[in-house]
Amino acid sequence: MNILVLWSSPNVDGLTASAAESLAEGVRKAGGTADMVQLNKCRIEHCMACGNGFGTCRSDGYCVIDDDLQDIYDRMLKADGVAFVTAVYWHDLTEVMKAFMDRLRRCEANHNHSLADKKALIVACAGGTGNGATECLVRFEDILRHMQMKAWDRMPVTRFNKDYNLPSLKVMGELFVKRLEEGFK
Ligand SMILES: Cc1cc2nc3c(=O)[nH]c(=O)nc-3n(C[C@H](O)[C@H](O)[C@H](O)COP(=O)(O)O)c2cc1C
Repeated sequence: MNILVLWSSPNVDGLTASAAESLAEGVRKAGGTADMVQLNKCRIEHCMACGNGFGTCRSDGYCVIDDDLQDIYDRMLKADGVAFVTAVYWHDLTEVMKAFMDRLRRCEANHNHSLADKKALIVACAGGTGNGATECLVRFEDILRHMQMKAWDRMPVTRFNKDYNLPSLKVMGELFVKRLEEGFK
C-alpha cells in the first residue's frame, strides 16, 4: 500500500514533522510505502477565485495556476490512502495546508469527484497551548466531507500528549495499511 503523507509546518524537526514521521514508520512497519510531501517546501499559491467566483476548477476540474498543486493531486489519486498532518495555526490548518485544500476542494467537489471515498487520516499538531487542535480537526473533516473523502481516523497532538500520541500515530499508520488491505469493517 502506498500512503501519501502530506504535512505542513516550516520546521523539519518540530512536532508536526515528528508526527508525520511516526505515522510513516507505522506505514513502513506494515509493509507499505510512505510518500512524504512537506507542503511548505512546495510552491502552492492561493486561489484567485477566477471569473465571477469559479473558473476552470468548476468547468474542467483543474486550476489555471501553474504550481505544484497538480503534481500532488496526481499523487493523491495514485495513493491507496492519504494522511494529512498539519501544525495548528489560529485553531485552524496552516495557511499553506489551507491554500492547498482550498484549491483541491474546488476541483474535486465541483467537477472531478475522483477522490470520493479515498480513505484519509487527519492529524493536528498544536504545539502552543494545545488549544484549537480539536477545532482544526473539525475544520479539516468538513473540507474532506465536501470532497466526499472519508476520514478513517483523526488525532490531536500537543506537547502535553506527545509522549503517548506520537507512539499511537505509529500504530495508526500501521493499522491504516492493514485496514486498506483487509477492509474497514
Ligand atoms: C501563526 C501561529 C499560530 C499558532 N496558533 C496556535 C494555536 O492556535 N494553538 C496552539 O496550540 N498552537 C499554536 N501555534 C503553535 C503551533 O501549533 C506549533 O508551532 C505547532 O506545534 C507546530 O509545531 P512545529 O512547528 O514544531 O511543527 C501557532 C503557531 C503559529 C506560528
